[in-house]
Amino acid sequence: MKVVALNGSPKKNGNTAHALKIVTAELEKEGIEVEILQVGSKEIKGCTGCGACSKRQDEKCIIKGDEVDNFIQKMKEADGILLGSPVYYADLNGTMKSFLDRAFYVAGANGGLFRHKVGTAVVTVRRTGGMQAFQSLNHYLQYSEMFIPTANYWNVLHGGSPGEVLKDEEGVQIARVLGKNMAFLIKAVNASRNQLPVREDKVWTSFIR
Ligand SMILES: Cc1cc2nc3c(=O)[nH]c(=O)nc-3n(C[C@H](O)[C@H](O)[C@H](O)COP(=O)(O)O)c2cc1C
Repeated sequence: MKVVALNGSPKKNGNTAHALKIVTAELEKEGIEVEILQVGSKEIKGCTGCGACSKRQDEKCIIKGDEVDNFIQKMKEADGILLGSPVYYADLNGTMKSFLDRAFYVAGANGGLFRHKVGTAVVTVRRTGGMQAFQSLNHYLQYSEMFIPTANYWNVLHGGSPGEVLKDEEGVQIARVLGKNMAFLIKAVNASRNQLPVREDKVWTSFIR
């Protein structure tokens, strides 16, 4: 069993990295392999809405020259996906959004590559905007028929300068509890693979009658 943890922050060792590590330490204690994917320090263009991923059905984005296709395959192969983002202007940070828009659109357009994986999110914030960013990350997971573990509060950890998040005692506990629950859910889903619901074809109406 494996989890890929995506760090949306441009800082490899900032607060988001620390938050992810608290969660992943619990996964590793339960024998789940972890790979950190560094998203925020890459140059990643946003989705252009061209629809090529739907037409070509090759599990790839038509925009080349970055890690998006590689990371999509790593996410497809994993049992769980952990999203982490710093709060920028009361939402997830821009590079992470560019990545997630493209990766999740390709996944959805190619038969639901992330469907029935376990997925959850953590955000780090100095002061305000944590809930907005957390909900924004959840939108990707909810749209993709993923199973979402929770913690004993919303997954928002507070800290400004890199590492300060470790002083947020309650936030550290939230991340730890989240890691334990994520590990449990991954094992539970894995144990009931042959009972997962059959996928329904999507009904598209765009509210036009
Ligand atoms: C461009 C930018 C925008 C930010 N916007 C907010 C904000 O809206 N609210 C807030 O409390 N902190 C904000 N912050 C602070 C970061 O969310 C906080 O320092 C976070 O822990 C950084 O995580 P990192 O070390 O993983 O990059 C912002 C920081 C930057 C660089």
